[in-house]
Amino acid sequence: MPSFGKQTPVGAMAVTIKTPEEVSKMRIAGRLAAEVVEMIEPYVKPGISTLELDRICHDYMVDVQKAVPACLNYRGFPNAICTSVNQVICHGIPSKSKILKNGDIVNLDITVIKDGYYGDTSKMFCVGDTPDHARRLIKVARECLYKAIAIVRPGVRLGDIGHAIQSYAESNYYSVVREYCGHGIGTEFHEDPQVLHYGKPGTGLELRQGMTFTIEPMINAGKHHTKLKKDGWTVETRDGRLSAQWEHTLYVTGDGVEVLTIRSGESLSV
Ligand code: MF3
Ligand code: CO
Ligand code: CO
Repeated sequence: MPSFGKQTPVGAMAVTIKTPEEVSKMRIAGRLAAEVVEMIEPYVKPGISTLELDRICHDYMVDVQKAVPACLNYRGFPNAICTSVNQVICHGIPSKSKILKNGDIVNLDITVIKDGYYGDTSKMFCVGDTPDHARRLIKVARECLYKAIAIVRPGVRLGDIGHAIQSYAESNYYSVVREYCGHGIGTEFHEDPQVLHYGKPGTGLELRQGMTFTIEPMINAGKHHTKLKKDGWTVETRDGRLSAQWEHTLYVTGDGVEVLTIRSGESLSV
């Protein structure tokens, strides 16, 4: 699985090309995922627990959107969304005892299933007054995603995407997490290919119209090394410094890219 465990060399890949009918369904799933992120924004304030955020998102997906929260019970994950606070890189488990406090940063990663198709997106939030160094990390991580999205079109290779992210992150003296990556997506949560957030230009799989995949760079303020907590899910920076992540689900069009999880008012310019 792309986002789980250490990377292994990629063998034969089964990358699916989506039909226009499938893309229509992915557009709907993507929009629903984006709408959950928009809905939860006003709740992300000092004093709320990450379990409460999970409950609000869960109920919105199930009751309002009539959608399935993809994370819930996925490989045993216990909640509807991932809530990754401060030094947590990804896959943070919502908890009653994890109360957001002034100055925290948090990633909310939302994946919905609608009509059998997945939409996967995540965004960073600042809790109250967040220090400038944390805001800058969040901004650069977002720009890493946007710079990668900007080059997506048929003929571009996955190594070009990884390189765009890695070169920008490292030129800002940040590091790129290696052990977790973006992924193909469609009727399954994690499909081929693996979309690494580092790499060499001109290498790797060539993109074709009809591919759908995520880009979800995890950018660390310190070193790139990770540590899996004993709960089997929570991934933290080994050095305890901050990490930031943004994610979109993308569709490769005939001459560029469509961002299936774009939020209203979101501008992709860097
Ligand atoms: N949404 C994550 C991703 O971007 C995966 C979370 S799986 C879970 O790929 F089980 F941790 F929820
Ligand atoms: Co995600
Ligand atoms: Co993803």
